[in-house]
Amino acid sequence: MKPRVILGIETSCDETAAALLVDGKTAADRTTTQLLHEKYGGVVPELASRAHEQLLMPAVEAVLKDTDREVADIEAVAATCGPGLVGALLVGVSFAKGLAKSLNVPFLGVNHLEGHLWSAELIHGRLPLPFLGMIVSGGHTLTVGVNGLGQYVKLGTTHDDAAGELFDKVGRMLGYAFPAGAALDRDALSFSGKPVQFPRARVRDDPLGFSFSGLKTAVLYYLRKRYEVGANGFVISHAERTAVSAGILAAVSDMLVSGLTAAYDTDKYRAMVLSGGVASSAFLRRSFARFAEDRGIPLIIPPPEFCTDNGAMIAYIGYLRIQSGDVSPFDLTVDPAAGLPTLSPVARHISPGGTGEGS
Ligand code: KG4
Ligand code: ZN
Repeated sequence: MKPRVILGIETSCDETAAALLVDGKTAADRTTTQLLHEKYGGVVPELASRAHEQLLMPAVEAVLKDTDREVADIEAVAATCGPGLVGALLVGVSFAKGLAKSLNVPFLGVNHLEGHLWSAELIHGRLPLPFLGMIVSGGHTLTVGVNGLGQYVKLGTTHDDAAGELFDKVGRMLGYAFPAGAALDRDALSFSGKPVQFPRARVRDDPLGFSFSGLKTAVLYYLRKRYEVGANGFVISHAERTAVSAGILAAVSDMLVSGLTAAYDTDKYRAMVLSGGVASSAFLRRSFARFAEDRGIPLIIPPPEFCTDNGAMIAYIGYLRIQSGDVSPFDLTVDPAAGLPTLSPVARHISPGGTGEGS
């Protein structure tokens, strides 16, 4: 009998998350964002690991309590094994292995990016294949053609900062607390005048690629020219800060849409599926929806709580892997720099009927 009750654990960065999946559906989900990093303006790896150690067990207890289950009811344990902060990953993976071993149930090491890529299925059910996936988060900005689990065609990626990283860095200049994405997004959305104009970068010789460091520099120069530096970033009024935020979101939106367009035209995709913390931006969701509507492309974006890091997306990959008879060895190590895994040779094209034809 295949395991039906799967515990998912996510500790790759500054969110400590656990979720319980029953028959592939989220039964309970608990995510704690480690606010302690706020005063440092970025995630402090050592503090993140220690906080995961303290927060993980309560998160697991909470999802068991929410579903009236006991530890002994867990039939498989999945945990993020990369990419992410090495110490933070080790906390989750060691915990998962120990628990799986003590319960004598399968352990699954899950790739964090793969979790994001398929998280929409938790809400929307099976996605049409092939789809164009886009992950926009604090650590990644990439597009990928998805032909099935582990069957990925890497298309575009950022040549420097990730979109979320840009938000967090310019957010710091503007005096927003870390992580800044949600606050920047909220202010940009509330702005109704003419946003500040910032350049949109294209990567020479890589139409599928992204680059956000030029925008970061442009924002810095814009602020330096006009404002003094205070204890908490540049000294800027709320109204002016909002105009800058709207300009940043508009520029990022244009760059992401341009990369999406280029990636979409590489194959006959049946949908665009977005995920990652930045995909929870209401400003960007509105731009993506307009673009998809103009082009007549089905667009799927999970709700914000499934875009940001969560345990359900990790448990879900565990569930899919178990369905195909796959489990991880107990000596699996964490891989802080892991890319998207490829389980089998990529079938370049899959017809809507689902038959792969390799290229
Ligand atoms: O996927 P995620 O939770 O963690 C990583 O895997 O990186 O993404 C975190 C990133 C941060 O950079 C954060 O500022 C950004 O997502 N973010 C947002 C929003 N919520 C989180 N960016 C824009 N708008 C939001 N509402
Ligand atoms: Zn993530």
